[in-house]
Amino acid sequence: MGIYNTGVLTQNLFINQVTFKHMHKILFALCLLFAATGLKAQKAKQTYMSFCAGCHGANLQGGVASALIKKDWKHGGDRDSLIKTIRDGIPNTTMLSWKAAIPAKDIEAIADFILQAQATEEPKKP
Ligand code: HEC
Repeated sequence: MGIYNTGVLTQNLFINQVTFKHMHKILFALCLLFAATGLKAQKAKQTYMSFCAGCHGANLQGGVASALIKKDWKHGGDRDSLIKTIRDGIPNTTMLSWKAAIPAKDIEAIADFILQAQATEEPKKP
């Protein structure tokens, strides 16, 4: 019995230690994920500012081109349509195809950035 109890105690301590060790890893992974998500959003905003804000406005409110916070999308406001519009451009307009200038992953990130803005912001006047 004594040996058995010691065994269980040792085993429990061992399990606790293992759980504790992994808890650190899990927390660390969550922090990384959180930081990565934030960085990705920040990067998408920077890319938007460099390439798009000149025509569509710094707050997506529109300028020489239409606003990008709206419901009346001419070419579709869902993720796939946004990606397609940005990637391929719109013929006979100054909306170019951006696929040569912006990597596919970053185009997806800009689409997510635009979608995010629909959910969180009303268009702001400059
Ligand atoms: C030189 C000006 C210019 C720049 C720079 C530009 N666009 Fe456009 N964009 C236009 C024009 C013009 C249209 C078509 C007419 C309109 O919607 O005003 C358009 C249309 C769009 C549409 C479709 C809108 C709809 O109603 O369906 C999206 C989405 C879009 N642009 C995103 C972007 C993104 C993202 C960038 C940056 C990578 C960008 N644009 C850069 C001029 C520009």
